[in-house]
Amino acid sequence: MKLFLSADAVAKALGVEDVAAALEAEARARGMALELIRVGSRGMAWLEPLAEVERDGVRHAFGPITVADVPALLDGALAGHGPTEDIPFLASQTRLTFARVGVIDPLSLADYEAHGGLVGLRKALADPAAIVQTVIDSGLRGRGGAGFPTGIKWQTVAAAGAGRKYIVCNADEGDSGTFADRMLIEGDPFSLIEGMAIAGLGVGAETGFIYIRSEYPDAIATLTRAVEIAREAGLLGGDVLGSGRGFDIEIREGAGAYVCGEETSLLNSLEGKRGVVRAKPPLPALEGLFGKPTVVNNVISLATVPVIFEKGPEHYASFGLGRSKGTMPLQIAGNVRFGGLYETAFGLPLGEIVERIAGGTRTGRAVKAVQVGGPLGAYFAPQQFDTPFGYEEFDGAGGLIGHAGIVVFDDSTDMLAQARFAFEFCAVESCGKCTPCRVGAVRGVEVIDRMAAGEDMRDLVEDLCETMRDGSLCALGGFTPYPVLSALTRFPDDFAPHKEAAE
Ligand code: NAI
Ligand code: SF4
Repeated sequence: MKLFLSADAVAKALGVEDVAAALEAEARARGMALELIRVGSRGMAWLEPLAEVERDGVRHAFGPITVADVPALLDGALAGHGPTEDIPFLASQTRLTFARVGVIDPLSLADYEAHGGLVGLRKALADPAAIVQTVIDSGLRGRGGAGFPTGIKWQTVAAAGAGRKYIVCNADEGDSGTFADRMLIEGDPFSLIEGMAIAGLGVGAETGFIYIRSEYPDAIATLTRAVEIAREAGLLGGDVLGSGRGFDIEIREGAGAYVCGEETSLLNSLEGKRGVVRAKPPLPALEGLFGKPTVVNNVISLATVPVIFEKGPEHYASFGLGRSKGTMPLQIAGNVRFGGLYETAFGLPLGEIVERIAGGTRTGRAVKAVQVGGPLGAYFAPQQFDTPFGYEEFDGAGGLIGHAGIVVFDDSTDMLAQARFAFEFCAVESCGKCTPCRVGAVRGVEVIDRMAAGEDMRDLVEDLCETMRDGSLCALGGFTPYPVLSALTRFPDDFAPHKEAAE
């Protein structure tokens, strides 16, 4: 029997290693030949741990699987979900960046190549001078959250003269409700390595760093091994795939500060300094790591590059909406029936994502709010559910898509508490460099507490938010007003004195 079993951190948290051990023991006891292949996650969190049995080349899904299910699974008597690719959540996706995740053995370079891997790098090597223009033509924008055109960033670094340059991958995925970077690294690490090598060839950098959060031990282990395998295979090192060009990667672990996901504090941390934000300019593209021109890109931006070269920039750009080209791996979390990773072309209305794809709330209650873009993202009410998922569209609706984390709340949620949490989060994670954030966030918590006690502090909150938005050095202080003000304006009933009077 050929059996694929998720080894993703979510599956591990839900006991998949016990299932794996039970499968091997049971197969041994029966004298049964079992080919057990550990894969990343298909992204359907409610089915984890997910096992897939291959029959006539088609994988059939069983999950969530427990140790008690093992005998029936091996007997072929366990009820499942049919062919995995036919499950509506998966069947309705457009998987470009995540095409291989959950499908291949993450540490098999042969499996990677058998599923389109390295085609992009070979094409890029055939015409290195065209690399930057190809990325520009694809319309790819920074998937970390800001949406800056990736090709333009590469062009700035490429044009920054000769000399040492760096590629830095930001894998310090700190937004609440996001897990795309982790899933990609655990499920298809060679795509990130390939994307970084193409970036290095494109801008003239020979060294890359991956800065990954220490809270991702499984991803770190997979990535470390993948880099070793890539070196052994000549994909990394002094002579990339026999091209005569060199590129190698080092991995660095962060220590758990949210602000180190901000590119300049990440660079400080990489240099061994305290993770404090630097003023921009100079842009990292001109003076980045150790003062050298540096591409800083998110995991998903870099891991998307190979498929752009493999299928062509026009193919990638043919998906999406307006200036939001291509696909986005949505990360659906919070109070939902079907949580997980859903890669789709830009343009789906938020309501369709929440109601159709996520299946509404797990509690069965009405949806009250949806926070999009992590802890610095705005709360959307059902009245804004027709907003199409795109950078400009969300900006126009008073929010941001950020790293595409979508967290759903039902009608039992107290939005005043959520506004307080936003200030509190900022106070805890502030690097302390600028006053509007360092002091403003602490004052914000106090002011919300006074509102909870019945005082009308609305004007003061709005003033404080304006100061933080306009006066903060980076997005942590500058974007905290998004969740606070969206909660205040879209859910006014949750804010005293009305609430206090009602009680
Ligand atoms: P930004 O708008 O200042 O910069 C975006 C990127 O473009 C940066 O890399 C910047 O150096 C680069 N850039 C700007 N102008 C350039 C030029 N002319 N040439 C070359 N490069 C140029 O945004 P920032 O502060 O880097 O990021 C803010 C975003 O981060 C927010 O939208 C938020 O959603 C997101 N975020 C993501 C998190 C995550 O876990 N992925 C966590 C927190 C925030
Ligand atoms: Fe540091 Fe906050 Fe200022 Fe950003 S906004 S530089 S996190 S103090």
